[in-house]
Amino acid sequence: MSLLKRIGATIAAASLCVQGCAAQMVTQPYVDPVSGIVFNSTWVTGPGSDPESASVATYGFGMVLPPDAFIKDANEYIGLLRCAITNDTADASQGWCGLSHGVSGQMTQSLLLMAWPYNGSVYTSFRYTSGYNLPGVYTGNATLTQISSTINATQFELVYRCQGCFSWNQGGSAGSVSTTSKLFIMGRAAAKKGVHNPTCPDKVFFGFHDNGYGQYGAPLDNATHTSYPYWAAKATKTAATNCATLETPPPTTTATGTQPTDTSVPTTTAAAQCTPAPAKSYDYIVVGAGAAGIPIADKLSQAGKSVLLIEKGPPSSGRWNGTMKPAWLQGTNLTRFDVPGLCNEIWVDSTGIACTDTDQMAGCVLGGGTAVNAGLWWKPNPKDWDYNFPYGWKSSDLAGATKRVFDRIPGTWHPSMDGQLYRQEGFNVLQSGLNQSGWKQVIPNDSPNQKNRTFGHTTFMYSGGERGGPMATYLVTAYARKQFTLMTNTAVRRAIRVGGHVTGVELECLSSGYSGVVNVTANTGRVIFAAGTFGSAKLLLRSGIGPADQLQVIQSSADGSTFLPQNQWIDLPVGYNLMDHLNTDLIITHPDVVFYDFYAAWNTPPEGDKDAYLKNRTGILAQAAPNIGPMMWDEIKASDGIVRQLQWTSRVEGNDQVTPSKNAMTLSQYLGRGVVSRGRMTITNTLETQVFLHPYLHDDFDKEAVIQGIKNMQAALNVIPNLTWVLPPPGTTVENFVNNMIVSPSNRRANHWMGTAKLGYDDGRSGGSAVVDVNTKVYGTDNLFVVDASIFPGMPTGNPSGMIVIATEQASQRILNLSAPAAVGYGKQCGGKTWGGSYACEDPYVCTYVNISYSVCLSPDAT
Ligand SMILES: *[C@@H]1O[C@H](CO)[C@@H](O)[C@H](O)[C@H]1NC(C)=O
Ligand SMILES: *[C@@H]1O[C@H](CO)[C@@H](O)[C@H](O)[C@H]1NC(C)=O
Ligand SMILES: *[C@@H]1O[C@H](CO)[C@@H](O)[C@H](O)[C@H]1NC(C)=O
Ligand SMILES: *[C@@H]1O[C@H](CO)[C@@H](O)[C@H](O)[C@H]1NC(C)=O
Ligand SMILES: *[C@@H]1O[C@H](CO)[C@@H](O)[C@H](O)[C@H]1NC(C)=O
Ligand SMILES: *[C@@H]1O[C@H](CO)[C@@H](O)[C@H](O)[C@H]1NC(C)=O
Ligand SMILES: *[C@@H]1O[C@H](CO)[C@@H](O)[C@H](O)[C@H]1NC(C)=O
Ligand SMILES: *[C@@H]1O[C@H](CO)[C@@H](O)[C@H](O)[C@H]1NC(C)=O
Ligand SMILES: *[C@@H]1O[C@H](CO)[C@@H](O)[C@H](O)[C@H]1NC(C)=O
Ligand SMILES: *[C@@H]1O[C@H](CO)[C@@H](O)[C@H](O)[C@H]1NC(C)=O
Ligand SMILES: *[C@@H]1O[C@H](CO)[C@@H](O)[C@H](O)[C@H]1NC(C)=O
Repeated sequence: MSLLKRIGATIAAASLCVQGCAAQMVTQPYVDPVSGIVFNSTWVTGPGSDPESASVATYGFGMVLPPDAFIKDANEYIGLLRCAITNDTADASQGWCGLSHGVSGQMTQSLLLMAWPYNGSVYTSFRYTSGYNLPGVYTGNATLTQISSTINATQFELVYRCQGCFSWNQGGSAGSVSTTSKLFIMGRAAAKKGVHNPTCPDKVFFGFHDNGYGQYGAPLDNATHTSYPYWAAKATKTAATNCATLETPPPTTTATGTQPTDTSVPTTTAAAQCTPAPAKSYDYIVVGAGAAGIPIADKLSQAGKSVLLIEKGPPSSGRWNGTMKPAWLQGTNLTRFDVPGLCNEIWVDSTGIACTDTDQMAGCVLGGGTAVNAGLWWKPNPKDWDYNFPYGWKSSDLAGATKRVFDRIPGTWHPSMDGQLYRQEGFNVLQSGLNQSGWKQVIPNDSPNQKNRTFGHTTFMYSGGERGGPMATYLVTAYARKQFTLMTNTAVRRAIRVGGHVTGVELECLSSGYSGVVNVTANTGRVIFAAGTFGSAKLLLRSGIGPADQLQVIQSSADGSTFLPQNQWIDLPVGYNLMDHLNTDLIITHPDVVFYDFYAAWNTPPEGDKDAYLKNRTGILAQAAPNIGPMMWDEIKASDGIVRQLQWTSRVEGNDQVTPSKNAMTLSQYLGRGVVSRGRMTITNTLETQVFLHPYLHDDFDKEAVIQGIKNMQAALNVIPNLTWVLPPPGTTVENFVNNMIVSPSNRRANHWMGTAKLGYDDGRSGGSAVVDVNTKVYGTDNLFVVDASIFPGMPTGNPSGMIVIATEQASQRILNLSAPAAVGYGKQCGGKTWGGSYACEDPYVCTYVNISYSVCLSPDAT
């Protein structure tokens, strides 16, 4: 049981290779005995991928394409889907399985097909979801007709024709895959529990995929066939549906969510019930309560300013009345977010936690990333500031901010309250090799600048054996002040602005919370976006700030009717400069390594571990899942002369797709400071953000550093007796390993997204690359700011939470020191393409557009 869960929950697919990746997916030809259809390529999960029986594959998929599919993109195929039958529940349900037709194999923003057996038939349903949510019914144009289906005691199989399946459009959220590219990246998922209402595909409800998921590269070279039209004509059947008597889904529960929510279709406000926001104005409105929003709200309120902090998601930590928790935490003040050992449950069940308006995993709860991450907490390498940030933001400028942050959140590398470290077998194995190979052990936050050939224990923001961090420090002091107000479950649609002057924010009623408009203090009030790399960029775009192509998308969206006219748009490169740590996973096994099943601990932690944690905050559950450490660092000067920083995160966890070993460790290499590759985030006309261009390995020297880093790590660890390499597989060169690994967010992301609203002196309105100036103020405005990971110009060494909080401390001082420009009088200039003066007009005048380089304060009735 627990092991099955582990497959589904592996943090990232360890490898996604076109070829040469051991046993993860086996490619084999198959001729369907009934129809005679030749599937020259099918992809099946390899032996060992199913923990209960090596002979039963949990998933198999085959595809035949029309004969001209390599010349002209096809939009249909003949498919073969084969999945394991499970007998998990007492009722008739026997599991379900599904696939993603996506460009990256992700569940989000691509056409999904799910199938399940019932009473002798195989039923199917097309599904779609924009974010990390159970997918709702696909409303676009895709048709499935069956050629044949078979069901026996161990598996079910469907041969079908899928039309309209390589391009999709869900209420405007559109995408496609190209058969002429000859390579798909497919996704698969399976669940042990079946669906409810099995004969009524549009009304089924179901649970999380707890029987494995993954992505794989599917080269199409052999998939076309001249007999395609003949075989396609055999597709005439559909499963008999019956929607006469239906079960009603249970109310959505945030801990185990079973009700699909179709988030991609704009939510109707009928069910949403919001309370009109109090008619108050604030000196500062901060949007987003995460690593940046919480500290800045605290600092501004500490300075006596009235501050409204608005969070879109629900409370998380028990301290803030969060409620999501497994049964064994009932009756305590703790939620799933507070217990370090439960942090990886986010990869098992993120319903009600992950943002539903982005195709990447992001925390939409109080605390943001600092509520859902593994809590890694680094005092930054000084070079991360000095190399990436401009004058005024160098490590010497940030010394004070760094001290203030680490005084409040010191962090610890031995989070259990007895000071002991638990289950260190994995750490010890790697430590022995690193020591022998001349790598130096350090206490990372005592020597933040020692990041070449060094290693150490993982440092966490935890305190008192609990998550701690900004929610347990900055938010506590802020909340105690009468001038501070917190709103949760409340979404912000946009900043309201007249020219370059913002007067407040418009709230968006999504479910509950507040609605209406909240103003900032006349003239001097300010709005700060701190909603994360995707969230803040989206807010800027909806406020009419960004590249024209993106603002046009919004103009034609549901926002269109209230969107600012084009002459009010501020042209800035929002969404460019997208970055993330490129993640490349290696896997080793060693007989001494011992796995601890944190996934099982969600429901049933070992009694001793539970007691130690609940009574004393000691033991392994006070450590982050999945047993992280050691951390290693390496610096590599590539042939272009640029030094790339690598950080390695080890964890005691393998991947059942590549090894059945219980003694495995995954070593994740992050490519950090010095990385040259950049991507781009865009918005869809259903107002979801997406990684339009991933930020990985567009630069040959970035790849050179990745390869050299792997070689260095192999050399360092090869001295360890009895250590076995699983990835790269023995006999595969590092070059081949890296070159064959697919580059896609689904298998290479670290979820450290940054950079979409870059900070810098080079004003993006005049062709520069910066969206905010060095005071974090958005160019072309006098009172709109962005403070979060989106302002980072370059990638840092490691997990960014600490740096984000430090940048926030710094930004808070700069913002407080910045005097508000005085409103100007009648006939005075108040805007223009590169205007740098005041954008505010004295009452009752209004800043009025004249031409692209000139706006002027006029009477409200002068048009
Ligand atoms: C499911 O139950 C049937 C009938 O009892 C049995 O033959 C079959 O092996 C079971 N399948 C699995 C995967 O356990
Ligand atoms: C079910 O069908 C598959 C494929 O034909 C076959 O390999 C397997 O042995 C069958 N299982 C049973 C229990 O008949
Ligand atoms: C809908 O699907 C059918 C069948 O594949 C196709 O002929 C038609 O062009 C599609 N329409 C659109 C708008 O995609
Ligand atoms: C295509 O078929 C050939 C011959 O059977 C085989 O060698 C090759 O590996 C196949 N290619 C793919 C991508 O499956
Ligand atoms: C598919 O396989 C058949 C025989 O198995 C072969 O004749 C045909 O060339 C293959 N098609 C492709 C595109 O490789
Ligand atoms: C907000 O400001 C607008 C003018 O900018 C004003 O009409 C409105 O009444 C104000 N709302 C509140 C709640 O103060
Ligand atoms: C829970 O209560 C303990 C004991 O009072 C306290 O130390 C801890 O900070 C609380 N944790 C949360 C998340 O409220
Ligand atoms: C938490 O709940 C208590 C009791 O209902 C209430 O007094 C308190 O204000 C709540 N705290 C927050 C942050 O909502
Ligand atoms: C909690 O700590 C006390 C004092 O060290 C110890 O006696 C007790 O055994 C611990 N309880 C558990 C469940 O670990
Ligand atoms: C990192 O350390 C190694 C080993 O001492 C050294 O060869 C290399 O030049 C160093 N890298 C950089 C960028 O200084
Ligand atoms: C390596 O494995 C062998 C056989 O399992 C064992 O006898 C030996 O003690 C191991 N060596 C080390 C250093 O762990």
